[in-house]
Amino acid sequence: MTSTLLTGIAELVTNDPSVGDGSPLGLFRDAALVVEGGRVMWVGPAGRAPDADRRRDLGGRAVIPGFVDSHAHLVFAGDRAAEFAARMAGTRYDGGGIATTVAATRAADDAELRELLRDRIAEMRAQGTTTVEVKSGYGLTVADEVRALRLAAEVTPETTYLGAHVVPAGVDRDDYVPLVTGEMLRACAPHARWVDVFCEPASPHAFDGDEAREILMAGRDAGLGLRVHGNQLSAGPGVRLAVELGAASVDHCTHLTDADVAALADGDTVATLLPGVEFSTRSPYPDARRLIDAGVTVALATDCNPGSCYTSSMPLVAALAVREMRMTPAEALWAATAGGARALRRDDIGVVAPGRRADLTVLEAPTYLHIPYRPGVPIARALEDLG
Ligand code: NIG
Ligand code: FE
Repeated sequence: MTSTLLTGIAELVTNDPSVGDGSPLGLFRDAALVVEGGRVMWVGPAGRAPDADRRRDLGGRAVIPGFVDSHAHLVFAGDRAAEFAARMAGTRYDGGGIATTVAATRAADDAELRELLRDRIAEMRAQGTTTVEVKSGYGLTVADEVRALRLAAEVTPETTYLGAHVVPAGVDRDDYVPLVTGEMLRACAPHARWVDVFCEPASPHAFDGDEAREILMAGRDAGLGLRVHGNQLSAGPGVRLAVELGAASVDHCTHLTDADVAALADGDTVATLLPGVEFSTRSPYPDARRLIDAGVTVALATDCNPGSCYTSSMPLVAALAVREMRMTPAEALWAATAGGARALRRDDIGVVAPGRRADLTVLEAPTYLHIPYRPGVPIARALEDLG
């Protein structure tokens, strides 16, 4: 194996508070890194760098852990640009448009869906994302959900069974929940790491607390880890259910009661905020400060999907978190990297330290502060994409 010494790093964010400046970002200025076989071997000040087989000069750029996008719906065909335009004219988002994407996705053949998925993954990598979770949820038949998960497993180990996205058109809710917890789960579980449910009593299409509990418990019995879409449209039961069942993450958290915040602070479920959704649905943002100040672990993710938020950009999400949710630039970067890793219960990513994966993102900038400071400018890309 060949080792590579990366030099010319104006600023290195490690997310290891035991090194560098001792802050949660574990930040070094004028740093170097040794990478070998896809793993980090050494991290430290440039002046103390060891020898390696090759050298690569990054020319005064900043290096950060690759973004961990822990919530995305990437297996779909078609788009809903007209729905977005209607929303900007005042129509409210309630998940009803998911049926449009389900129809387009079912109609697409495997090759078409695979290409769309791969293009989206490439788009994410080009913006610095090195790990992405991918959900099913636009098939909603046994065969279509299995197909989505098989395709997702080709591009990521973080695959999520979301048969419980909505009750599909023409199917009775009382027939659909047993399918999701029975035959569909048995067929999908071998291809998934996680199970997720859109728990939202305020949407006529999604699932209430009792249904969500049944679905999550069946998934857990089938060996899957738990994730929840909770409290997106109302202060429903999703957050407390997620914490009670020990879910790795509850995502959205837009409408929270004091009891929800207290439960999150006492439990070990990550609160994943998806501010691209509030941006794209013109809704009030979640109260990130309230969560952070209560001691809750917060992650940021895109929720990339054709309905509520069609962005693949973690830098945009971090910029929104800073501008609209009053997270500091350091909190936003941590949440978009180490926070995402926590939400996926991974300790090999989200941190730049010896033995961890060398999933590195390079910025066309001298400091991570440029992520929120230069919104919409493509300054981040995964290291292997650097020319
Ligand atoms: O996370 N809320 C449920 N699911 C997605 C939206 C899916 C869609 O509208 O196509 C979300 O916002
Ligand atoms: Fe989602």
